[in-house]
Amino acid sequence: MRGAIASGVAEWSALHTVGLQSVCVPFTGSAKTIAAIAEIHKRIESWDTQVASRGIVEGVFAASKLQSSVRLPKFLKGHMYETRSITNIDAASAGFIDYVGKYGTLADKAAISSAVTRCTQMGRMGTWTGDIEQLWAKFQKSRAYLASYVSLPGQFTHHEANVYETYPSGRYDAVLIDPPKVVSTTDIYSAHYQDLNTALGGAVPIPEWRREHVLTRLEELIVLPARWVLLLYTSEVYPTMDDIRWLLSKYGQVTVEDRYRHRSRYDYCILVDKEA
Ligand SMILES: C[S@@+](CC[C@H](N)C(=O)[O-])C[C@H]1O[C@@H](n2cnc3c(N)ncnc32)[C@H](O)[C@@H]1O
Repeated sequence: MRGAIASGVAEWSALHTVGLQSVCVPFTGSAKTIAAIAEIHKRIESWDTQVASRGIVEGVFAASKLQSSVRLPKFLKGHMYETRSITNIDAASAGFIDYVGKYGTLADKAAISSAVTRCTQMGRMGTWTGDIEQLWAKFQKSRAYLASYVSLPGQFTHHEANVYETYPSGRYDAVLIDPPKVVSTTDIYSAHYQDLNTALGGAVPIPEWRREHVLTRLEELIVLPARWVLLLYTSEVYPTMDDIRWLLSKYGQVTVEDRYRHRSRYDYCILVDKEA
C-alpha cells in the first residue's frame, strides 16, 4: 500500500482498506465506493435509507445473477405520477418509475434510480431533462452496466435503515464515512430523493442534514470500535474542512490526507489511525 498513488476517491478508499477483514460503511449511496473496496475475505456492513442502495448491494453485488422483471416500459399511476415531484417530469416517465417501484426487482430499482438521476439537469434531480424514450434507454443501459457487478468478492450485509436508528453493533477494522454534504442549507438527498424513494417502495424517511447536525452525527460514527476511520469530504460545504480536521484530531492521528479536483471543488480523503 505504501507508496501507491490513487487516482480518485473510490480508488483511494480501496488502497487504504486493502487486506482489511471488516469495514463499516454507514452511507452507501450509489455504492461506487463499496464496489471499489470489495475483495475476498472482506466483510462489508452497510446502511442507507434509500431502497436503491439496497438494490445495488443485495440485488447486484451479493447476487449470483442479475434478476429483472421489466421487459417493456409499462406505466402505473403511483406516487411519482400523482406528485410529479421532479420539476417538469412527463406523465409517461413518472408512470414508468411507479411501475418499476411496484413490479421491479431490487436490481431494477437500482437501475431506474441511476437512470432517473441521469435524466435530470446535471444529475442533480432538480429539473427533468429527459423523456420516456431516454429514460427507458438509460434504464436498460444502467441495468446492463450493473450486470457486470454481480457476485463481487467478499461478504455483504446491508441495512435499508437510518444508521442512527439501527446503530452499528459490530467491531470493525475500519469505518468508511462518506456523509451527505451540506452545500447551502441542506443536503441533496433529503431535498430531492425522498419522493423517488417513496415511488420505488422505500419505507425509510431520508433524514435532513443541516450544518448544525454534521459534526455530532459524524462523531457518533467516528467513535465506533474500529482502528481506522476513512472520511470522504468536500471543499466549499459546511462545516468546513478545518472543522472536520479538528473533530478527527480529537480521536486519533490523521495519517493521510489527499485531495482530488472534482469540477469546481476538491474531494478530500482522510485516513485516521485511532490507535496511533
Ligand atoms: C454522499 S452519499 C454516499 C455516496 C457513496 N460513497 C457512493 O459510493 O455513492 C450519502 C448517502 O447517505 C444516505 N443517508 C443520509 N442520511 C443517512 C442516515 N441517517 N442513515 C443512512 N443513510 C443515510 C443518503 O441517502 C445518501 O445515499
